[in-house]
Amino acid sequence: MPREMILADLAATEALAVRLARALRPGDAVLLEGPLGAGKTALARALLRAAAANPALEVPSPSYTLVQTYETPTLRLHHYDLWRRSGPEGLTELGWDEAREDVVLVEWPDRLGHLRPAEALTIALTPSGETARHAALAGWPAARLAALLLAMSS
Ligand SMILES: Nc1ncnc2c1ncn2[C@@H]1O[C@H](COP(=O)(O)OP(=O)(O)OP(=O)(O)O)[C@@H](O)[C@H]1O
Ligand SMILES: [Mg+2]
Repeated sequence: MPREMILADLAATEALAVRLARALRPGDAVLLEGPLGAGKTALARALLRAAAANPALEVPSPSYTLVQTYETPTLRLHHYDLWRRSGPEGLTELGWDEAREDVVLVEWPDRLGHLRPAEALTIALTPSGETARHAALAGWPAARLAALLLAMSS
């Protein structure tokens, strides 16, 4: 069962991202679904800034570079944007298997095909008015999701 919530504005999306950054560990995959402009990059940017403890961290959309890698004292994170890809072809050559040992954040994860990690956290964002986003979280064990969302309400 997905856990669903309304993120009323960008600050709410950023708050979810901060909680998520604290929960991540090596081997985790976070798949960000949703249409153009849904807020996938905004969520990833806030997550990466929180993980790096650097609110000024430059986080460009990786739609042209495909992937941007970030090092923090405790984690290495790879931010993918697969919008321009038609499928998973070439990802293995680009180091996908090695990246999976770190943390991967993936926009347009439908392109992953057979490489889509079964145990990933999927966050589906749907615009719902100008600044509100509907978010559906699925894929993590109930206890792990609950811990993330419980932290949201504190
Ligand atoms: N609640 C919200 N959550 C996230 N972004 C929001 C929210 N409200 C407004 N926005 C705005 O919506 C835009 C989202 O753009 P963003 O680049 O993150 O989308 P995207 O899903 O990555 O799109 P693309 O598929 O083109 O990569 C930003 O300008 C952001 O400020
Ligand atoms: Mg984006």
